[in-house]
Amino acid sequence: MHIPVLLKEVIANLNPKPNENFVDCTFGFGGHAVAILEKTGPNGKVLGVEWDREKLKIKNEKLKIDRLVLINDSYANLREIVERENFGPINGVLLDLGISSWDFENSGRGFSFQKDEPLDMRYSEKQLLTAKEIINKWPEEELERIFREYGQERFAKNIASNIVKIRRQKLIGTTFQLVEIIKKSFPKSYKFGKIHVATRTFQALRIAVNNELENLKNVLPQALEVLEKGGRVAVISFHSLEDSIVKKFFKTQAQNNNLQILTKKPVVASAIEIKENPKARSAKLRVAQLNN
Ligand SMILES: C[S@@+](CC[C@H](N)C(=O)[O-])C[C@H]1O[C@@H](n2cnc3c(N)ncnc32)[C@H](O)[C@@H]1O
Repeated sequence: MHIPVLLKEVIANLNPKPNENFVDCTFGFGGHAVAILEKTGPNGKVLGVEWDREKLKIKNEKLKIDRLVLINDSYANLREIVERENFGPINGVLLDLGISSWDFENSGRGFSFQKDEPLDMRYSEKQLLTAKEIINKWPEEELERIFREYGQERFAKNIASNIVKIRRQKLIGTTFQLVEIIKKSFPKSYKFGKIHVATRTFQALRIAVNNELENLKNVLPQALEVLEKGGRVAVISFHSLEDSIVKKFFKTQAQNNNLQILTKKPVVASAIEIKENPKARSAKLRVAQLNN
């Protein structure tokens, strides 16, 4: 389903001990949560929050443990979830912001430009906005803005303009239709690097559909509110937009004497991990501790 990234490093830095409680805000398939539970017996609990109901339906033997509480909701509602579940005291909060391998390979929701699927890209079916709606309805300037801001795409203007031209003739409903438009938006002389031509546009769409950057900005202060004094917050990010939000938040809180930053530089994956799981190459882990 998904290989958890920086697993050893997350455990070393969150430092879970017997009978402590943790919140895993991005439960996915529970790789990190199970490793935490292994350290927190006999009574420590994990509250696993996952937006995608489908993922919570796929359970394995390891997840049949009564110290695990699973909630289908967005981590943007962290404070409310913790209060509702009466969960605590909380010694650590984890956010693993990447997209799981299952999303790309098995979700059928158009996360991958290598599969011809409907343009959906929602983590939760409760959300109304889809990638199809953005591509077919949003004004050209808005498309250009998200491709530039969220995808750091140099040819954002061309891509947005070509999308609008094509959608006047027919609905753009699938990933392959979009990939074709993107391909035609690059200058003929452009030398493609290591990444696929559609990588940045697809990243931008996913961020916009799921409101990812706003959700991250919202959850960070809530993580500090729900933590016990001395508790830790760990965030794994996968691109510079996410990482700079985390870095800035930690820095401001440290200046205000609320937090102590435990990772002066972000922790990255070892060469061995990257060889076994290439998706780990862009992962960055930052950890901070709430002051007493
Ligand atoms: C990289 S995966 C986590 C993998 C997990 N650590 C594991 O070891 O299996 C990130 C997960 O976050 C979920 N997610 C994304 N946005 C979310 C949100 N706002 N609230 C809760 N879960 C979210 C995704 O559905 C995805 O399953």
